[in-house]
Amino acid sequence: MSMNLCTEIAGVSVGDLVQRFGTPLYVYDESTIVKQIDQLRQFDVIRYAQKACSNLAILDLMRRQGVLLDAVSAGEIQRALKAGFAPTGDPPPVVFTADIFDRDALQQCLELGVHVNAGSPDMISQFAAASPGCEMTLRINPGFGHGHSQKTNTGGEQSKHGIWHEQIDDCMMRADLQGAAITGVHMHIGSGTDFEHLTMVCEAMESAVTAVGRTVKTISAGGGLPVPYQPDDERLDLEPFYQHWNQTRQRLENQLGHSLRLEIEPGRFLVAESGFLIAEIRAIKQMGSHLFYLLDAGFHNLARPILYGAYHPMSVSPADGRPGERKSHPVVVGGPLCESGDIFTQQEGGLVSTRQLPRAAVGDWVVIGAAGAYGQVMASNYNSKPFAAEVLLQEGVPHLIRARQSLDALIADEFIPG
Ligand code: LLP
Repeated sequence: MSMNLCTEIAGVSVGDLVQRFGTPLYVYDESTIVKQIDQLRQFDVIRYAQKACSNLAILDLMRRQGVLLDAVSAGEIQRALKAGFAPTGDPPPVVFTADIFDRDALQQCLELGVHVNAGSPDMISQFAAASPGCEMTLRINPGFGHGHSQKTNTGGEQSKHGIWHEQIDDCMMRADLQGAAITGVHMHIGSGTDFEHLTMVCEAMESAVTAVGRTVKTISAGGGLPVPYQPDDERLDLEPFYQHWNQTRQRLENQLGHSLRLEIEPGRFLVAESGFLIAEIRAIKQMGSHLFYLLDAGFHNLARPILYGAYHPMSVSPADGRPGERKSHPVVVGGPLCESGDIFTQQEGGLVSTRQLPRAAVGDWVVIGAAGAYGQVMASNYNSKPFAAEVLLQEGVPHLIRARQSLDALIADEFIPG
């Protein structure tokens, strides 16, 4: 079968999935997630950055696999608890990492005793003042960063994230004042790590831990592990990646005279490739030289193309289930929204591009791949479009894990005064 034709996801027929659950539909394959987790088992703790895909069923899967959680909001803490994670423990099952506390999150962390990884000096003062004697970790901005796009670069002066590396002493004083202990250092320097960069990060980690001193028990390498989106993207070689971090840990252990826990905090790496967005082709239009396939899914379902010019693999799934031999041709793939940027085939800056896809008819489906991370979690109700349904495939059996949002639910929280 040609690369761009697809009739099954993890052995389950696309036609059957659509018939049962409709479109647009997010489908996640559990075995892919487990395979990704297994590749990181050398780390002492795998802490899933749930912002990538926070459906309760995905969090439950992580828990069953022994993976712990990162949370960035009161809502994500609530999801963790609903999925069966305890609020406290050693290592902490849930860590709250952010640059600010909104009032809900502060209250929740205090009431539940959720571990806080502070990304600003103010967070230290706000938490420690209300929780004397607590332990906290620091998220450090080492002064440089990296990202697949400017919008995901999380280090350096341009970034709002983390505690500036030159302010660690200041933060230690703040913590001391309230009797708080700094027990760990965390660095997430952006999505799309490369090795040259990694050496710099590891060195920055060593100086940060040295600045904090002997109270440090945990170091976290953050997330940002890349996955292949484009056909010629290479896979991250995990062995040298782990070795870099392990050697850093060992040097620090020698220096501090005690053992250190090494955490990794991936989001995308664990879930991106497990996820597919299935949409139906509802119209096919020739516009001058461009042929458009218009789908019933748009940037309200998957925002990465319009936000970052992100590339996602795509294939056509024929509604009759019989792929046959189909000629392929360049196509612009777009969605239903009343906005010209609602195009899945675009580059950063909004330049519309085409994708080589098989001939298709209205009623066929397009399957968008590598959509498991930052897909449904970044969905919106723009144009009053309901959220898609989500399905988890477990050993060939599809389970509905989010019902398609109803039109009633869209307006349920609104009031007309008077
Ligand atoms: N840890 C921290 C503190 C983070 O801020 C992030 C991502 C992660 C871990 C996980 O990064 P990952 O392993 O997934 O690359 N919406 C963008 C990505 C934004 C990432 C924000 N922080 C996208 O669709 O590419």
